[in-house]
Amino acid sequence: VGAEKINTDIVTLTRFLTEEQTKHKEATGDFTLLCHALQFSFKSIAYYIRRSTLINLTGLAGSSNTTGDDQKKLDVIGNDLFIAAMKSSGRVRCLVSEEEEDLIVFEEHPNARYAVVCDPIDGSSNLDAGVSVGTIFGIFKLPRDAKGVKEDLLRPGTDLVASGFTMYGASTQLVITMRGGTVNGFTMDNALGEFILTHPNMRMPKKRAIYSVNEGNSLYWEEPVKEYINSLKYPEKEGGKPYSARYIGSMVADAYRTLLYGGIFAYPADKKSTKGKLRILYECAPMAMVFENAGGQAVNSNMDRLLTVVPQHIHDRSGVFLGSYDEVQKVIDVHKKYA
Ligand code: AHG
Ligand code: MN
Ligand code: MN
Ligand code: MN
Repeated sequence: VGAEKINTDIVTLTRFLTEEQTKHKEATGDFTLLCHALQFSFKSIAYYIRRSTLINLTGLAGSSNTTGDDQKKLDVIGNDLFIAAMKSSGRVRCLVSEEEEDLIVFEEHPNARYAVVCDPIDGSSNLDAGVSVGTIFGIFKLPRDAKGVKEDLLRPGTDLVASGFTMYGASTQLVITMRGGTVNGFTMDNALGEFILTHPNMRMPKKRAIYSVNEGNSLYWEEPVKEYINSLKYPEKEGGKPYSARYIGSMVADAYRTLLYGGIFAYPADKKSTKGKLRILYECAPMAMVFENAGGQAVNSNMDRLLTVVPQHIHDRSGVFLGSYDEVQKVIDVHKKYA
């Protein structure tokens, strides 16, 4: 048997970012430096996540955040690690985090041109069970006359210059996309301490019979959602095959599977959560850009394109349906019957 073909042309995230920068003539390198700080924050969060059960970092911090979630110790540590990395980069002016009630402004960097939104630990209710969790992030470029106030961040996802997420699972995966660009997946090589490009130009299957939703909320769903989900479970067509159900409860894990395998992820607004549960700025919009750039669609509960939605407040929520192009189209078509 021939020697295993060794890949000697390894693309690290660092190299990928350098190559990306050369595509932008006017680039100052600030965005690249910001992404290196992001990369470090993922490495340090992964480090603590993987040790949490060993050094008593599981369990509750004893506080709750502005969206009413009980904060886990790792929510707080992940948040602190992320903010420290963004601040030390010197390239971030202000930051919105799920775990911070107000906008964080880095007064030390009044001329920094970027703003970051983040969910430091997504899926934290699953942490103590050892289920995959992750970090979701989005990057906005600030207008020249920005004052570093929250209005600078109440913008549609179409303004994001980059977004993505990490998933701390069996391995540490990073998915990142630039506005109008491709979606690229990286896997952490712990020996090298580098993210290695393993999923270049990720494209979603146009359809896939997998649906991902918390059926425990069925009692509260609006009619169109009930009709849509039932059409997957009880296909009208004679001999039609029902969809397979997959729900992990960590958005990053459900999103990553949906990105790779196809299908649909949904967290609809319903009678219990009339504005939905997932937060626009640091969950819905960054994920929507990833899914659109991978050939999928992402809409809210009014069937508006999620990336066009402008939040009124930094922690505003939205219903969300994201996934394979044809699967989201089915949701839109059912809702049209009720319009
Ligand atoms: P977070 O842990 O950042 O607060 O997010 C939790 C979110 C998201 O990860 C997941 O899709 C959703 O909550 C699950 O909600 P349910 O437990 O209500 O299904
Ligand atoms: Mn939370
Ligand atoms: Mn989250
Ligand atoms: Mn979170």
